[in-house]
Amino acid sequence: MTTVMPSSTSTTLVHPASEQAAEWWRTAVIYQVYPRSFADASGDGIGDLPGITSRLPHLERLGVDAVWLSPFYRSPQHDAGYDVADYRDVDPLFGTLADFDAMLADAHARGIRVIVDLVPNHTSSEHAWFRAALAAAPGSAERGRYLFRDGRGPGGDEPPNNWTSVFGGPAWTRVVEPDGTPGQWYLHLFDTTQPDLDWTNPEVHAEFESVLRFWLDRGVDGFRVDVAHGMVKAPGLPDWAGTSAMIDGAHEGETGSEDGSTGAGNRGPMWDQEGVHDIYRAWHRVLAEYDGDRCLVAEAWVEPLSRLARYVRPDEMHQAFNFSFLTTLWDAPALREVVTASLGASDAVGAPTTWVLSNHDVVRHASRLGLEVPGTKPNGIGVGDPQPDEELGLRRARAATLLMLGLPGSAYLYQGEELGLPEHTTLDDAEREDPTWWRSGHTERGRDGCRVPLPWAAGAPGYGFSPTGATWLTQPASFARYAADVQEGVEGSTVETYRAALAVRRELALGSGSLAWDESLTGPDVVAFTNRDVLVVANLGPDPVALPQGAEVVASSVAPATAGTGRLEVPAEATVWARLA
Ligand code: BGC
Repeated sequence: MTTVMPSSTSTTLVHPASEQAAEWWRTAVIYQVYPRSFADASGDGIGDLPGITSRLPHLERLGVDAVWLSPFYRSPQHDAGYDVADYRDVDPLFGTLADFDAMLADAHARGIRVIVDLVPNHTSSEHAWFRAALAAAPGSAERGRYLFRDGRGPGGDEPPNNWTSVFGGPAWTRVVEPDGTPGQWYLHLFDTTQPDLDWTNPEVHAEFESVLRFWLDRGVDGFRVDVAHGMVKAPGLPDWAGTSAMIDGAHEGETGSEDGSTGAGNRGPMWDQEGVHDIYRAWHRVLAEYDGDRCLVAEAWVEPLSRLARYVRPDEMHQAFNFSFLTTLWDAPALREVVTASLGASDAVGAPTTWVLSNHDVVRHASRLGLEVPGTKPNGIGVGDPQPDEELGLRRARAATLLMLGLPGSAYLYQGEELGLPEHTTLDDAEREDPTWWRSGHTERGRDGCRVPLPWAAGAPGYGFSPTGATWLTQPASFARYAADVQEGVEGSTVETYRAALAVRRELALGSGSLAWDESLTGPDVVAFTNRDVLVVANLGPDPVALPQGAEVVASSVAPATAGTGRLEVPAEATVWARLA
């Protein structure tokens, strides 16, 4: 049955348009490139910088404003490069500094800005500083760059506190002192090979300011700051009975709370400590010395949204990922609530809101939304787990993306979502590389399923990912259907749907636009708002929703149908953007 909506509109403005929004990052659509899985030029099966350069035309045609590159620095790759051994060099797996400069110049020539990842919470255990710390004595300056502590209990055999690692298992590892005796312990919120730095040490501050300058001098447009809420720990490192899990999303049946937050948040003594803000104030000053509106974006899994907004106060970072939006279930009231809360929290500090649905740490939204409770967020999906409905998931994912791109602010896309890629949910466990898999005692499959090399050409070996057909993770056979070349120029394909939406978003300046809820269209299964003069209607329910008389469609996740009444209808599980004549 069609829901016929009254044609008179009543609206509630929650965010005015911001014509003075001058800085590019306030409205930018930023595409995340995960270098090892984007495109491989060398043929070793691992993506690289020349591979990225070769595919920049795809990104230019897509119409994104910037790319963010996950780490490509020297690293033993125990956590896919988030374990950095040298912050000022490119890992040979990915190329050279000259390859980086060439990629940056090409991107800039195409009008695409480049943000790089900064990993300041921890180094690799192969970083020169950590090697020196292991060789030095307890209490030495070398150990003082990290969080070394004596153990508790007889002989110091127990870890200094009860914290657990985000990836599972204890957050402390004991070292053997240079004289061969069992020694101190060091803190690692992540893998054993990722020792946490001590951000009370001025030398650590100086080093990272120098790293910022190294990349700013090369011309990068900004930094995505890894674990931005974790660098400072509560004094004394007190015990904490809760989990240190960083990703604490929506759970079954949960539809959000008053402040728009969806999970318990991270409240332990390792997260969101006041001291982190001093670091960002200092970095803000460093970036301000450079031209071109360079920016910092926080990866901070912090709730409620009012706490997250503290990272983007005027003298701190510029953006923060909106994980409350990402973790909201496919539920119209919950989505309205999180959008209102997000805009309210960021408007209060004069920052843009960001929107994001997928990244390299979560199950792709095309698969999350195909789960029995759409939008739940398992930490990976394996062959024995309930499998998502692929077709429904993709349909909803496209609807969710159109909803997101219709919102004012800045939006992040994750490589492959423009192809509608699903998670690889049947990956052979023997291939898994995410330390989560083994650190959790094989209970959490982890993130490999969203990191599978992209399919560029349906008929080529490795779907065109590399010239040899090699891929560091096996691609599922279904990737043939999603390859970029079979979607190019095909009306209604996912890539063309993204491209069309991005073009309209840019042309109509929706990024700096407004948000007013359309109360006359809103319903239990409908999210409806206007941004400037564009009406965005997301229909999460099974019945079509009629658009007002005279609506002219400017973009849609699925083409609207015309009802017997002559009115256009938003089909089930679809989003339509329309202008009213
Ligand atoms: C990154 C992860 C990484 C972790 C440790 C995160 O938040 O996005 O991929 O494993 O930080 O660096």
